[in-house]
Amino acid sequence: MSLPGRCARLAAMLRAAHIGTRRPRFAHRATLRRSLRLLGSFKFEQTDPAVFYGGLAVDTSQLVRDFYSDLTGRALRGTTVLDVGGGPGYFAEEFAREGARYIPVEPDPSEMHAAGLSVPGAVRGSGMALPFRNDAVDICISSNVAEHVPQPWVMADEMMRVTRPGGLMILSYTVWCGPFGGHETGPWHYLGGEYAARRYLRRTGKEPKNRFGKSLFSVSAADGLKWARAVPEDVEILAIFPRYHPRWAWWLVRVPALRELLVSNLVVVATKRAPATGQNAATSQRSAVELPATPESA
Ligand SMILES: C[S@@+](CC[C@H](N)C(=O)[O-])C[C@H]1O[C@@H](n2cnc3c(N)ncnc32)[C@H](O)[C@@H]1O
Repeated sequence: MSLPGRCARLAAMLRAAHIGTRRPRFAHRATLRRSLRLLGSFKFEQTDPAVFYGGLAVDTSQLVRDFYSDLTGRALRGTTVLDVGGGPGYFAEEFAREGARYIPVEPDPSEMHAAGLSVPGAVRGSGMALPFRNDAVDICISSNVAEHVPQPWVMADEMMRVTRPGGLMILSYTVWCGPFGGHETGPWHYLGGEYAARRYLRRTGKEPKNRFGKSLFSVSAADGLKWARAVPEDVEILAIFPRYHPRWAWWLVRVPALRELLVSNLVVVATKRAPATGQNAATSQRSAVELPATPESA
């Protein structure tokens, strides 16, 4: 391709910075100031989780509120929000403030009780086999969990299964090759997850909480895009973007290799269509967004 051709292609890519047909409402919140605020709170994740998770809870409820509003034109009041891998329920207060019924699902009882919070209706169960019927909830979210489960895309399918037609699914996870992929064992995960875990044990005398191969897995940005590309007909992908980045850096999702290193946390937003009738079946599309290529799809 000629140089002007390449420039035009790059310009088009940058213009289409987010992956989605319309500019999501949430894009307005994705400022550099917000990114720096969230980044600044990361250092408290292990030492003072309430600081880190409190800020994340506010940000997450805004994310969910904005996308639900884009999708339905409605606020969260009266909705049921299922939070897969909700931990102790740090997000409960924020969703209650919005008037939503918040239900965390969490397999690990020690995580459920970790912060001394009491969330009525909290359910013990795994994201890979959600103990809910089909189409049970208005909104199903999962924040920073997929990298902790051995079959994250089974979990994503389960999340879509329990979301009602017209409802919202938001899955967000830490990308393995990003700066936080190794969690407390980073940056040594760049030399391999097993090596990083053993090194952590050698240095600290204890196993990392997030143990590679047991409670921490290598999930790539391309894996999320691959899942999005293969969703069934009744699922529509609404947006894919880096969770913590300012809006002007969302285009990183479109660049293979670079996205693995720099996206850090990928958000996939989807909805489930109502069953197609004869008339709308012919016009139904798989995705509202143009998904970037992955090695598998090329
Ligand atoms: C890093 S925490 C995230 C907590 C919360 N979602 C947030 O963003 O603040 C990861 C959570 O995933 C949970 N988890 C691990 N395996 C899971 C599974 N199979 N299904 C659902 N959650 C799981 C862990 O117990 C833990 O509470």
